Amino acid sequence: MRSFNIAFLAAILSLEAHAVPHSNRKVSVGTGLLVETTSGNIQGFINHTAPDVRQFLGVPFAEPPVGQLRFAKPQAKQPNGTVKALTLPNSCMQQFDSSSSTIYTEYETGFLVSGGNSEDCLYLSIWAPKVENIQSQQRPLPVLLYIPGGGFTSGGQASLYKIPDKWVQRTQSHIVVIMNYRVNLFGFPNAKGLEDQNVGLLDQRLAVEWVRDNIGNFGGDTKRITLWGQSAGAGSVSVYPYGYPEDPIVAGLIADSGGPGIVNYDLAQTNFTTLAGLVGCDGLGSEEELSCVRKVPAQTLENALSYYSGNGTSPSMAFKPVVDNKVVFSNWTERLTNGKVAKTPMIIGSNTNEGAGFVSFTPEGPGDEALAAATKIISCPVAAEAQNRYIGDLPTYRYQYAGNFSNISPLPWFGAYHSSELPLLFGTHSEYRSQSTSFEWDVSYAMEALWLSFAEDPTRGPARLALGNTAANPNNASYFAWPKFQQGASDMLLIAEGEKLMQLVSSESIDTSCSV
Ligand SMILES: *[C@@H]1O[C@H](CO)[C@@H](O)[C@H](O)[C@H]1NC(C)=O
Ligand SMILES: *[C@@H]1O[C@H](CO)[C@@H](O)[C@H](O)[C@H]1NC(C)=O
Ligand SMILES: *[C@@H]1O[C@H](CO)[C@@H](O)[C@H](O)[C@H]1NC(C)=O
Ligand SMILES: *[C@@H]1O[C@H](CO)[C@@H](O)[C@H](O)[C@H]1NC(C)=O
Ligand SMILES: *[C@@H]1O[C@H](CO)[C@@H](O)[C@H](O)[C@H]1NC(C)=O
Ligand SMILES: *[C@@H]1O[C@H](CO)[C@@H](O)[C@H](O)[C@H]1NC(C)=O
Ligand SMILES: *[C@@H]1O[C@H](CO)[C@@H](O)[C@H](O)[C@H]1NC(C)=O
Repeated sequence: MRSFNIAFLAAILSLEAHAVPHSNRKVSVGTGLLVETTSGNIQGFINHTAPDVRQFLGVPFAEPPVGQLRFAKPQAKQPNGTVKALTLPNSCMQQFDSSSSTIYTEYETGFLVSGGNSEDCLYLSIWAPKVENIQSQQRPLPVLLYIPGGGFTSGGQASLYKIPDKWVQRTQSHIVVIMNYRVNLFGFPNAKGLEDQNVGLLDQRLAVEWVRDNIGNFGGDTKRITLWGQSAGAGSVSVYPYGYPEDPIVAGLIADSGGPGIVNYDLAQTNFTTLAGLVGCDGLGSEEELSCVRKVPAQTLENALSYYSGNGTSPSMAFKPVVDNKVVFSNWTERLTNGKVAKTPMIIGSNTNEGAGFVSFTPEGPGDEALAAATKIISCPVAAEAQNRYIGDLPTYRYQYAGNFSNISPLPWFGAYHSSELPLLFGTHSEYRSQSTSFEWDVSYAMEALWLSFAEDPTRGPARLALGNTAANPNNASYFAWPKFQQGASDMLLIAEGEKLMQLVSSESIDTSCSV
């Protein structure tokens, strides 16, 4: 408790010492810390730990989805005075699952969300270079708009390894925005009384629209927004071009470790009704059921669901995206064949040992066979989507990440587990455990450079750096252009395998393991 209080005090003190002086002064738009948006004026701050980065944490992009708006399509936020955007927002309501221990709960809590959760969670956060630096570049900056993962049942912005302040501090040439969206039964209720079921995906679209309408005032380039996500966030990114074929808004897509596979098939819509019964809303017609459940406190609902699934009760209960043929489709190939997909370029890939993130934790690990099987949960939907996109002639750049660094993967069987590339991309790999090796820094810089070069100009594709064994100098001027994925002999970028920074290989071994 004591250490918690000291940490809390330290946070307050650093806010007093470094942020408040800005807001106490008469803040002019010129400092870039008070920005006009469709949600009202947003008051940001600068943290001394990243002195050239303006942070706007907890910017509302939708009306709080509470009361009658629970389970409903998100409504654009109406302005109501200045918003003080000084702390990360609460995460959306999260299911707790006390029974499972994973490498995240046992070793890598930096991937989990910290802080509270609330139904009032539709906020995004923005990290942008100081105004002077943007002005000296005389051009609006590319924007990475990130969708966090969490299996559509959990996740959010307040996750230590995924805070991009140091990255933006270093480059001064891009903006990162991270969104929350409703998850679990609040985002994917699948209730008979509703017209729109995938409201969590509609939250993501509203966040994209908000960024389109407002990021220019933060120094961003509306024409160069890249929608990026990992895990369920990548699943969301990969379905996005199918849902908005005419007006994708974004110029690029990046899907780390996720494809369109994660869909629920509760066609009879009994999950919601069963849950309603657990909270005293049984035996009602669909309209009455919905309005009854809307009056139940959010935590009561989340608890009922958590206990039900935590006890392994049968039949199982889950709330994830469902086929609505509006944003989630029953046949992606058909959608593609009919040209109902935006031709937005995409980076997509997976990690060599994804499965280590999904198995129950034991110190020795479950063995290679179990890891390989669990890895396919991710690698196969990714492979299928890469292939689909190739057939549909959609520009696609494919990778596999193999990094195995002791400060991110401390036990031998962890390897390149699910999420393990994120600390290298966000530039946070050295912050929470031992120092990073110089090779690890090289890998981190190279991946950041590729992801950013894509955001700079998605139509050109990712490009940079020399390909070479240990020639990992990020300043190396030799040019490397990542080829389009065409199911060829050397068009998948294998990153950080052994001592090799990058190499072009065939995806055949992944693809054949998935087709059996
Ligand atoms: C400033 O950043 C440090 C870590 O980089 C963090 O511990 C602290 O809470 C931040 N302060 C504010 C006001 O966000
Ligand atoms: C606007 O803000 C005020 C003060 O915070 C609050 O009392 C009021 O309910 C808000 N109005 C709306 C429409 O949200
Ligand atoms: C939930 O939906 C699944 C199908 O996805 C079904 O098998 C299961 O029986 C349903 N559970 C309940 C409690 O209705
Ligand atoms: C099982 O459910 C009961 C209430 O229904 C709850 O008290 C208990 O904590 C649950 N067990 C687990 C492991 O979630
Ligand atoms: C999906 O659509 C494709 C192309 O129209 C068709 O060949 C295929 O049979 C369909 N798959 C299913 C499962 O309906
Ligand atoms: C990761 O590296 C460690 C230390 O070199 C090694 O013991 C382990 O086998 C590697 N793990 C994987 C999955 O490659
Ligand atoms: C860049 O990389 C190439 C290929 O590995 C290497 O031959 C060259 O010396 C490097 N140049 C610099 C300036 O580091």
